[in-house]
Amino acid sequence: MQSSIICFGFLFLLLECSQAAFNCSAPPNFNNFDINTCCRTPELDMGDVPQKCHKYVSGLNSANSKYPSFAHLCYPDCIYRETGAMSNGKIRMERVKQYLEEHVHRRDQDMVTQIVRSFESCLSNVKGHMKSSNIESYKVLPHGCSPYAGIIYSCVNAETFLHCPPKMWKNERPCNLAKEFAEQCNPLPHVPLPSS
Ligand SMILES: *[C@@H]1O[C@H](CO)[C@@H](O)[C@H](O)[C@H]1NC(C)=O
Repeated sequence: MQSSIICFGFLFLLLECSQAAFNCSAPPNFNNFDINTCCRTPELDMGDVPQKCHKYVSGLNSANSKYPSFAHLCYPDCIYRETGAMSNGKIRMERVKQYLEEHVHRRDQDMVTQIVRSFESCLSNVKGHMKSSNIESYKVLPHGCSPYAGIIYSCVNAETFLHCPPKMWKNERPCNLAKEFAEQCNPLPHVPLPSS
């Protein structure tokens, strides 16, 4: 609102303003450019954890065809539990930091600093939302996994994308456009939160 008023007030700036202000219901067209490649993923050796969690999630799938798999939520839940990043439904920040320092390749350690920062921003933002909606903890899903892990996982990915270290960032137009769009249209916690 504010920015459009300023734009109309200074017509000669209109062009610059219109470049910065997106219509959030109409994301830019990236022409099949894979935005996920914009911020390079650090080299991370998690041993057999990803395999174990894939197996766990696909097991859920076949176990009960009545429920959707909730794979997008149960996978992060499994990853966080298996790495010790989460215990008793809480993210253990010291453990996250330690795990990343030990398992991310040395040359990508810049990324660890940012990922830790992303965790902190996401945890404090989600905690704030929970507090203001009087939610003690999110309801556990039928499969027994908590949506909390999935929320934090998606938030950390989006937050790290927005604050991607320059040496991991692909400085190309679609990437910069995607970042500007997300900055304006997808603020913290970057994901919809359950209302209970
Ligand atoms: C924003 O985009 C939506 C979807 O394309 C459209 O319906 C709406 O009119 C646009 N709003 C503005 C202000 O341009």
